[in-house]
Formats: sequence, C-alpha cells, structure tokens
Amino acid sequence: MCGITGYTGFNQAGPILLDGLKRLEYRGYDSAGIAVQGEEEIMMLKATGKVSHLVDKYNDTPDFKGVCGIGHTRWATHGIPSDTNAHPHLSADGKFAVVHNGIIENFAEIRAELEKYGIEFKSETDTEVIVQLLAHNYKGNFKMALMKTIAKLEGSYAIGVISADHPGTIFCARLSSPLIIGLGLEENYFASDITALVSNTKDVIDMDDGEVAELTPEGVKIYDHAGREINKAVRHITWDIASAEKSGYEHFMMKEIMEQPQALKATIEPRVKDEEIVFDELKLDMKKFNRVHITACGSAYHAGCVGRGIIEALCRIPVEAEVASELRYRDPIMDDKTLVIVISQSGETADTIAAMKECKYKGATVLAIVNVVGSSIAKLADHCLYTWAGPEIAVATTKGYTTQVVLLAMFAVWAAGELKTISHGAYTSMVKDIMRLPERAQRALDLNSRVMKMADKYYDNQSLFFIGRNMDYAVALEGSLKLKEISYLHSEAYAAGELKHGTIALIEPGRLVVALCCYEKLLDKTISNIQQVKARGARVLAVAHEGNRAIVTEADDVLFVPVTDPLLVPVIEIIPMQLFAYYVAKKNGCDIDKPKNLAKSVTVE
Ligand code: M6R
Repeated sequence: MCGITGYTGFNQAGPILLDGLKRLEYRGYDSAGIAVQGEEEIMMLKATGKVSHLVDKYNDTPDFKGVCGIGHTRWATHGIPSDTNAHPHLSADGKFAVVHNGIIENFAEIRAELEKYGIEFKSETDTEVIVQLLAHNYKGNFKMALMKTIAKLEGSYAIGVISADHPGTIFCARLSSPLIIGLGLEENYFASDITALVSNTKDVIDMDDGEVAELTPEGVKIYDHAGREINKAVRHITWDIASAEKSGYEHFMMKEIMEQPQALKATIEPRVKDEEIVFDELKLDMKKFNRVHITACGSAYHAGCVGRGIIEALCRIPVEAEVASELRYRDPIMDDKTLVIVISQSGETADTIAAMKECKYKGATVLAIVNVVGSSIAKLADHCLYTWAGPEIAVATTKGYTTQVVLLAMFAVWAAGELKTISHGAYTSMVKDIMRLPERAQRALDLNSRVMKMADKYYDNQSLFFIGRNMDYAVALEGSLKLKEISYLHSEAYAAGELKHGTIALIEPGRLVVALCCYEKLLDKTISNIQQVKARGARVLAVAHEGNRAIVTEADDVLFVPVTDPLLVPVIEIIPMQLFAYYVAKKNGCDIDKPKNLAKSVTVE
C-alpha cells in the first residue's frame, strides 16, 4: 500500500527521499514520485512502475535541487497507475504539494465544491482534493489553512505538505493511518513506516490521530486537533538498519524465515520467569469473560485458528475465530463478557481495525497481538501484547506468523493458569515445550536443502492441495496461502476428512497433495485420507514428526520435523512449508518479496 516520506535539513532532499522510497517498496506500489522546494517553485518528478525508474529520472534532471521535500509510493485505489495519478499532487496555483497515504471518503463532494470555484483537477485521485482545498483555504497562514483543510476530510490520511511560500517547512497530519516523525540534528524527517527513516535517525515521535506536526530543520512542533502545541514522548528504536536490510540473503523472505529461532526467542524469553509465564504489560481479569472471539486477516487469521484450538483446549472457554472483513459486517453477538483478540503483524490492516472498533462498540474488551510498536491497532486496543519479531519486509509473512502463534500459546497457558483449568504438571510441561521452540525451529530450518529438492521435484504442479486435521488443518491453511501468494500456483487447503465430500473429484494422476501429519492424535485418520488420494493417482508429500515410521510407506516423500507438544505443532510444522513456498516460487521465476497485486500492509477495504 502507499508509503510516504519527507525531509527538511541542509542536505539535498532528492537522494534522501529516494532512499526512503526504496525502503518503502516492500509495502507494494505501482508508481512513485518526489517533490522539493526549488529556488523559485515546487519541482516534481514522477514515474509509473518501480522506484528505480524514478531514480533514473532524478539522475537525468541535474536541476532538481532542494533541501526540503516529500516522497510517495502509490498503490492505486482511485484512478489507474500513471504519472498523472502518482503523488505528489500540486495545487492548481503551484504553491502546495502533498503526499497522502489513506483514502479520503468524501473526496467527490469536496471536488465538486471546489470545481464550482473554477479549480481544475488534473488527476482522478481522492488525494488531489487535499491540496486544492489547502490552496483554496490559504490566506497567508500555512498552519491555519491546513487545520481548516483536515477538519473537512473524512476517511483516513497520513499526509505531508510543502509550500513554495514557506521554505524549509513541512506540515504533516494523521487520521487512522500511520505517521512517524524522525528527529535529527538540524534535519528532520517523516514517514509512514520506521524502515524509511531508520538509516537516518533512531529517535522518533509516534503521531496520534488528529495531531499535526510542523517540521523545520531547527525542530519539530506537534499540535493537537485544536492547534495547541503539545509535548510528545520521543521513542528510541532499538533495532538497526541491518535488521531492515537483506544481510546477504537473496530475498527478505528467506532472511525472515531464517530469523525465526531468534524472533521466537525474543518473543518468549522475556516472558518466562521461574518456569512461569509473566505478562508484566497485561492487566486482564480472565474471570470476567465467558467467551473469546479472535479476528484478523490472512496469515494472522490462520494464527488465530491455531489460537482458537489452544485456548479452547487449555482454558475450556468457547472461542470463535473469524476473518475481520466478515466479522465487521456481521453484527456479532458480544458484550462486556467477551474478550476479543485481534492479531496483526503491521497493526494497520483496515479490516482488522474496523472489526475491532465494532467489537469495542459492542462492549467487548480488546486484546491486540501486534508486531509493529505504536501502530494503530496497538493504540486502539484495550490491552496489547507485542510479538518481538523485528521488522518484517517480505510481503509473505513468516516470522510474523510463528511469533503470533507462540504468543497466542503463551497467552492460553497464562490464561489457563489464571482460570485454574490447567494442572501444575501440564502448565510446566507447556512452558518447557514453549521454551524449546527456538531450538526446534532451528532444527526444522536444517531441512532447507531437502525442501529445495522437493521444490525441484514438484514446482510444476499447477494445482495442489494441502490437507490436515485439527492443528495440521490450521497449518494447511497457512501453507497453502504461502505457496499461492508468492508462486501464483493454484492451491487449496482442506480439512483432510472433508476432501471426500466433493473436492476428491479433482484428484487425478500426478496431482500433488501436501499432507500435514504432525497432529498425531488424528494420524490414523489422516493416513486413511492419504490412502484415498493415493488410490486416485495423487503424489503425496508429507510433513511428519521425526520417528514416525508409519508415514514412510504411505507418502511419496516425507519431511521430518522435531517432535513437540500437539498444541505447539504449527510453529514447527509451518517452517518447511514456508521454505517449500519460497523454493517453488523461485523455480517459477516469481518476484518473491513483492508478489504481484499484493501489498504488505492492506490499509484499504
Ligand atoms: O499486518 P497484518 O498481520 O494485519 O496482515 C494481515 C494479512 O494481510 C497478511 O497476513 C497477509 O495475508 C500476508 N501477506 C500473508 O503472508
């Protein structure tokens, strides 16, 4: 989705903006642009396609000079990807330029009103109304014109604006879209995402809804919705630029797959003291709730499906898991005795935000499981537990997912302890198994070269199935999504027992079926489903626990992973599936980190 960045200081803004845009590329986009305050006027460069096209244009324009500017990567929502629709957008009088992340819902109404004044629009975008309205409202005071403008906007926005009449000044504003200010020495920055800033500064201010920031080289002022100056805390980022770069890996996805043992460790260890799970940050009375709803999108929803199983098994409380895009419109039955767990790596997913707002409106208590510190979901939730996965850049989530699952498992054990639904022995054994997950994840990663061979063997299957039962089924959902999103192969996940109710008609000689077989309580059942597809000519690639002899005679190939508690199976079992998706996509020549049509953070409905 769109990304924004800006710089004011004493260096040339162009290279700094382009570097920031390159770091925002992972979010998904189809055009990009930058604008700087030139000697006499605002200068702009735009390009459809990759940021590298914009860099070429910049290198071919030696006059493009200025020490204050804004930049944007656009993921088209209103109007096709084109140079005209790309941001920044300029006001008709050429005095203001804006970059915007979000959607202005009442843009048609504002546009019609401004057109009555004879203002001519150049693009089809919702964003252009912001800059045209700003110029229309401007009577010499930049801040006042901006406050008046944003008061009229409905929807979501993180914006950065420059003015030809105010050299060195950038104004930013936010409503329901992420915005961070970066603090430097006689130079300051803004961006929609820390990764765009972290090579320049590690001191940031998280903007909240309704706030406006004024950036000059000398300093940053933050104002509340009424324009009063306020003090905001400065946050120091603890991870460095290497975390946001590939560190020698060919793709971010592979780097992030390999980082899982470390990410799991970072998420688990600070929360285990004397074999007890301690959430210092969580003040939640579990006895208050008679049911739990889990909601999220995509892989985070798949993590939620695992969480449902673990919480129900350990806490004996009814749990539902539902995709946020459905829950938000379903008028769900919930009240103040309902705990809603929302899960999101980015913390900015529009459907998840809308669903959590709906749940809060109905009186539920919301606990968020989020990776990005200070994100919208983290802020809106009543309680928040962070996964400490570090920045995740590849569109296909890997360490984001496994850290979500482990945190849900830890929450379930903790909650079962609070509710006294778990014996001391079972509690201690779960904690021990959770503590061993980083090492077991490392052993699962040792399958790397064997998985590569499996990908060589099976990469040209145009349509395949993932099957499993219980926890294995939850992994099938995630394994299948991983494969299709980066390799563009058709794949479906099926509860193994459900296959015979229709889908088995699609099994034909040579069809690949990936059978997840680590949930051993139901292994016999899954094996009989394997036999059913084999009888119809399918080839079977199984994932099973080390020492499982039964599977060897049933499947064509087996990937053996370390044994773990049945409820923790997904954390380990998904790892060879992530590697499989990666190598199949690579064999098929796909753009692994930036799959077509996808965005890292889906901030539109
Ligand atoms: O940032 P979130 O966890 O809220 O994102 C939710 C989904 O968009 C995300 O998991 C998506 O399905 C991934 N691309 C899957 O790899």
